[in-house]
Amino acid sequence: MRVLVSGGAGYIGSHTVIRLVEAGHDVVVVDDFSNAKPTVVGRLEALSGRPIPVHAFDVSDADKTEHLFAHEQIDAVIHFAGFKAVGESVAKPLDYYQNNLDSTFSLLRAMGRHDVRTLVFSSSATVYGAEPQLPMTEDLPTSATNPYGWTKVMIEQVLTDVAAADDRWRIAALRYFNPVGAHASGDIGEDPSGIPNNLMPFVAQVAVGRREKLSVFGDDYDTVDGTGVRDYIHVDDLAAGHVAALDTVNSRSQPMSVWNLGTGQGVSVLQVIKAFERASGRPIPYEVAPRRAGDIAASYADPSKANADLDWRATKTIDDMCADTWRWQSKNPNGYPDA
Ligand code: UFG
Repeated sequence: MRVLVSGGAGYIGSHTVIRLVEAGHDVVVVDDFSNAKPTVVGRLEALSGRPIPVHAFDVSDADKTEHLFAHEQIDAVIHFAGFKAVGESVAKPLDYYQNNLDSTFSLLRAMGRHDVRTLVFSSSATVYGAEPQLPMTEDLPTSATNPYGWTKVMIEQVLTDVAAADDRWRIAALRYFNPVGAHASGDIGEDPSGIPNNLMPFVAQVAVGRREKLSVFGDDYDTVDGTGVRDYIHVDDLAAGHVAALDTVNSRSQPMSVWNLGTGQGVSVLQVIKAFERASGRPIPYEVAPRRAGDIAASYADPSKANADLDWRATKTIDDMCADTWRWQSKNPNGYPDA
């Protein structure tokens, strides 16, 4: 298939581009580079051995998106593009609702007009809300604790309604747990701008000497060692999950499907620190700080629906995730170059 990847220059999008090419698909990227560096594209071309066509604009621009569909042959869309920082979404709710919803509307409209009705959407385990039952299964009710999370809940609802209105659609919403790691080459990885919000990139920047120490947000949760527990999933396993969803969704009888993409294993903050120390051979200095507002004690998937329906499972361990993150971080201590 010829697959349009919105946000294809971003962290998960870029790893998925590689996996799509490896699986024999053709890829077209659209990305506005608001949270990605153009230099990722050369690396994708080197790793995939292919030219990767890139359109540099924001897909919430409906005219440009329509123009793209009118001029490119597209068979399916994987929609990653969106704002994703939880804290920023609380400060700038309108930016988040407008950007994340408009980009989805713009794509859905252009897809419908051009008879492209296969869509894989980047959702999140955040849709399980503030007090989730564990492990999380796809049939749990959805809610959110911040505007970012609400955009994912709302977009899933939009997709459900679009699929219900016209059963020619084949839509998959993939609920990611905590994506970490990097491509085995160490040439593509996560490159957050500014101070990282998420644990793994922060730990990696401490290891490489860009930051002095990690703050561990709370050690009094009801978990194995008191620190927060998450289901970390290697970004390459996650990328493979997108290819599996794309390959599966068209053969399903129902127009809308939802799958958790996680390992099913919970890992604590202190366990991540230890694993990263093993992988890097460097100490990770840390101090215990107060809990971060909005955090839950534990989150982990029941991935059995994706395992069964997609013939997919996450294969990489927390040690693999730390080793690959470290390879990327040590090869690219300051992330992607500007040019
Ligand atoms: N943590 C620290 N110190 C840090 C950063 C994080 O101790 O500097 C802890 C958190 O308290 C949490 C764990 O590390 O216990 C993981 O935190 P992340 O910020 O890496 O990930 P979250 O689970 O909070 O957030 C992720 C995604 C969000 C998504 C959310 C729920 O980043 O997009 O999962 O699915 F909304």
